[in-house]
Amino acid sequence: MNVLVTGGAGYIGTHTCVELLNRGDRVIVLDNYVNSSPAALRGVEQITGRTFPVYEADLMDYNAVKRVFSENQIDAVIHFAGLKAVGESVSKPLDYYRNNLIGTLNLLEVMKEHDVKKLVFSSSATVYGMNNEPPFREDMPRSTTNPYGATKLMIEDMLRDLCYACKEWSVVLLRYFNPIGAHESGLIGENPNGIPNNLMPYIVKVAAGELPCLSIYGGDYPTPDGTCIRDYIHVYDLAMGHLKALEYLGHMQGAEAINLGTGKGYSVLEVVQAFERATGRTVNHKMAPRREGDIAACYADVSKARELLHWEAVKTLEEMCRDSWNFAARNGARQ
Ligand code: NAD
Ligand code: UFG
Repeated sequence: MNVLVTGGAGYIGTHTCVELLNRGDRVIVLDNYVNSSPAALRGVEQITGRTFPVYEADLMDYNAVKRVFSENQIDAVIHFAGLKAVGESVSKPLDYYRNNLIGTLNLLEVMKEHDVKKLVFSSSATVYGMNNEPPFREDMPRSTTNPYGATKLMIEDMLRDLCYACKEWSVVLLRYFNPIGAHESGLIGENPNGIPNNLMPYIVKVAAGELPCLSIYGGDYPTPDGTCIRDYIHVYDLAMGHLKALEYLGHMQGAEAINLGTGKGYSVLEVVQAFERATGRTVNHKMAPRREGDIAACYADVSKARELLHWEAVKTLEEMCRDSWNFAARNGARQ
């Protein structure tokens, strides 16, 4: 299969490209490197021993997107490209709406013109909002508390409307829970600039001695140890979920939302302990006030993914921690 991967140089995109190439698919990457670099794609080439066309292009540039479709035979698209920082989306809402919505609209218009009607879209567990009880099921009411989440809701709706209007489209809306980990080679992984917002990159920097201490946001939640619970999923498992979603596109029509998580929740303290066990490093931590917008517990009901995609996550929390640390260590984290 010939697969266009938008945002293919990013964290989840690179890991998905590796598994597509390993399976023998042909990959075409489009990325403007706003949150990544060409070095990540060199890592993909190194792991797989394969090369592939890469377009440094902005999805907001309609003509650039058209060129990619004119110059390549494309059977399906995996659409990762988008801005994803929740906090930044609150301070720069227009950037998020412009990039995520206009980028997606351009992509869909060009897909339509070129008669490419199979799409896997990166949605997020953020669409379950603050008012549902976990485990989250795909048919629960959706809501959001920030512009980033609003773009995911709007794009999900846009895609449903498109599928309603034109029955030839097949779209899978994958709602990711909390992806962490890295490729076991340590050649690709998550490498945020500056001080990380997310838990695992922060833990890694504390373990490496680059940051002094992890603040645990809230020890008074109604959970067994008082800290928040999330459904952490290895980025390898997530990548494999995309391969299964592509297969599923071949025998479905319309738009289908599917959770990608493990179905198991771990607390912040459990993640810290698992990291220490898996790596032998110490993670200094202290309790801090709650972070605005956090919910006590977020984990997936994974039965739909199991039934429709014949997919489930296989990697353990220890493997996620070990691979996150291995990537950081190979890429210059202080030991
Ligand atoms: P990432 O930032 O590492 O990757 C996104 C890629 O898209 C980057 O390489 C970036 O340069 C590119 N990009 C952004 N805007 C672009 C544009 N206009 N034109 C071309 N390229 C553009 O993020 P990720 O963690 O790999 O996430 C991929 C997708 O999954 C995103 O849509 C994100 O919202 C979604 N998602 C991520 C998480 C997570 O925790 N990582 C959770 C839920 C959903
Ligand atoms: N946390 C800390 N200290 C930190 C960082 C995080 O205690 O320094 C805690 C958070 O309070 C939360 C947990 O660790 O309880 C996980 O936090 P992350 O920021 O890693 O992840 P979130 O669950 O908040 O957010 C993730 C994605 C978002 C997505 C959201 C909902 O990063 O893009 O899941 O699915 F919108």
